[in-house]
Amino acid sequence: MKIAVTFPIPEPAKALLSDLFDCRFWESEVPIPAGTLAEWLSEVEGVLTTLTCPLDQAALSGASHLKVISTVSVGVDHIDVDYAKSKNIAIGHTPGVLTDSTADLAIGLMLAVGRRLAEGDAMVRKGAWSDGWKPNLLLGTDLSQSTVGLVGMGPIGQAVAKRLAGFGCRVIAWNRSPKEIAGVEFTDLNTLLSSADIVSLHTALTDETRELIDRDRLSLMKDQAILINTARGAIVDERALADELAFGRLRAGLDVYSEEPLPLDSVFHSLPGCVLLPHVGSATERTRRAMFEMALANLISGVRGEPLQAEL
Ligand code: GLV
Repeated sequence: MKIAVTFPIPEPAKALLSDLFDCRFWESEVPIPAGTLAEWLSEVEGVLTTLTCPLDQAALSGASHLKVISTVSVGVDHIDVDYAKSKNIAIGHTPGVLTDSTADLAIGLMLAVGRRLAEGDAMVRKGAWSDGWKPNLLLGTDLSQSTVGLVGMGPIGQAVAKRLAGFGCRVIAWNRSPKEIAGVEFTDLNTLLSSADIVSLHTALTDETRELIDRDRLSLMKDQAILINTARGAIVDERALADELAFGRLRAGLDVYSEEPLPLDSVFHSLPGCVLLPHVGSATERTRRAMFEMALANLISGVRGEPLQAEL
């Protein structure tokens, strides 16, 4: 049985797959070219991939033997899910195992933006901290006791809510279908945006959530409120967000962008009031290992025609 791997993977994973299957490994850090991807997909029964590799209709149309797409990610917005399903291709992903790491990072960004951690670090490193403790040096805002609005209350939103309880925050939330969660007040999206000191996004990117946080909705946010995005960049109208940051009206902690890597000429690089990370929500040793294990299990089961551990 043949499989393809569309991105460089660790040697032990390669050895395991090579023992089981006839494998094509894409070894380069440069993304696999569309033509090569389509050619490989036309030959294989399984593909191990990740979110940097779009599996759209063009890539999948010739994939006549493909039984399973296994992505090392919880998000599947890089895959044309409806099209894959119409071709009876199973889709495996990695929910659950990255919930805590991503929730931790969201809290980290709330603290980093509110308490101006990146500015403080830069000041010390460049020798600009010249006159010791000062009563008004780098004054920020507290996470403790603040009102935090969570957009999307799946497992990651719920894990963030749990952490916020420890900070004594009032937690309000919006979800497509309201839920009963102790300590969380559900509300409509516009009320959430206009009431929260911090808004944190935890929804998947779908046709419904693309630019859900558009210019009008951003304008509802309180002056100096903080937008945290560890979900997907395209959930926000980034141009409108950049305008709000440029005016100094809002602040933001961003781990994700509609175009990744963030282009070198992106306006975000020069904007004040924001902390920018390179899409590292799940980037801990333990979590990445767990994601890999789950994705390999999904791939192997899918190629064998067995149920996946985590199937979409
Ligand atoms: C990361 O963004 C993921 O979807 O796993």
